[in-house]
Amino acid sequence: MYFDEIVKDVFQEINSLEGRGEVASYIPELRKVDPEKFGVYLSTIDNSGFGIGDCYEAFSIQSIAKVLSLSLAYRMLGEKIWERLGVEPSGTAFNSLVQLEVENGIPRNPFINAGALVISDILLTKLDHPKEDFLAFIRSLSNNSKIDYSPRIATSEKNVGYRNVALCNLIKSFGNIENEPADVLDFYFNLCSLEVNCQELSNLFLFLANDGCTLSGRRVLGQSQAKRVKALMQTCGFYDESGEFSFKVGLPGKSGVGGGIVAVHPKQYAIAVWSPRLNHKGNSYKGMKFLEEFTTKSQLSIF
Ligand code: DON
Repeated sequence: MYFDEIVKDVFQEINSLEGRGEVASYIPELRKVDPEKFGVYLSTIDNSGFGIGDCYEAFSIQSIAKVLSLSLAYRMLGEKIWERLGVEPSGTAFNSLVQLEVENGIPRNPFINAGALVISDILLTKLDHPKEDFLAFIRSLSNNSKIDYSPRIATSEKNVGYRNVALCNLIKSFGNIENEPADVLDFYFNLCSLEVNCQELSNLFLFLANDGCTLSGRRVLGQSQAKRVKALMQTCGFYDESGEFSFKVGLPGKSGVGGGIVAVHPKQYAIAVWSPRLNHKGNSYKGMKFLEEFTTKSQLSIF
């Protein structure tokens, strides 16, 4: 696989950079992560893979899980989902409240926290056993029954999740949350706490590279739905840094405050990077740098 050499070269180059930024500290358990961890794994749709560094060590995927919760809700609800939330970049931080007040509790997109809370509410209504059924969906995507929530991280965030509590209550006040805010928040904190390693994360996202089908041929999303989820990753996956990621990397992607980033090249590959030091927008500093160099050297961006 010719990607191997490029991944290795770029990994070494970025690994030697001085570690800039800080590990997320607002979720107490995330503070304990070693800031110098760095791993990359690339999985292709012809079923090969290559990993380097700390790519087999599990980490908290946080907001990256929002793509998977959107996928399941979209699969269940179809286009009606867009009656509850928008598809525009917010240009604001991931946990901002400002637009909700003037936009009647309709979050701009499914990847800001407000949007992910509405998606959580939809899943809570639609699924018989929300936490178990969502986990079963995730496990089925990668054929991996070991993936799990981290109760330790979910509880840690729950104890200090005042902004998410505020967001959820504000949306509820506009009638765009059906369930009890405490239940929606509990589900949301759990999905953010999912722990996977880079290899598992890139495998989980292969269905998006593969037009909505797993490599075993099971359809997860329609082709047009998969296109739309990737379009949202492209325009909204990095909050108020989405333009910058698009400009420098040129792939649909999604970040999480655990320091993970996953990006997808349609019909080619999914790549996961983990480096916990975050820039001031809450996205992995080395993760962004790695992917910028990788798409430049491989000449494989969507643009
Ligand atoms: O709700 C939160 O603040 C976290 N559970 C997730 C935020 C996050 O990952 C933002 N992404 N970069």
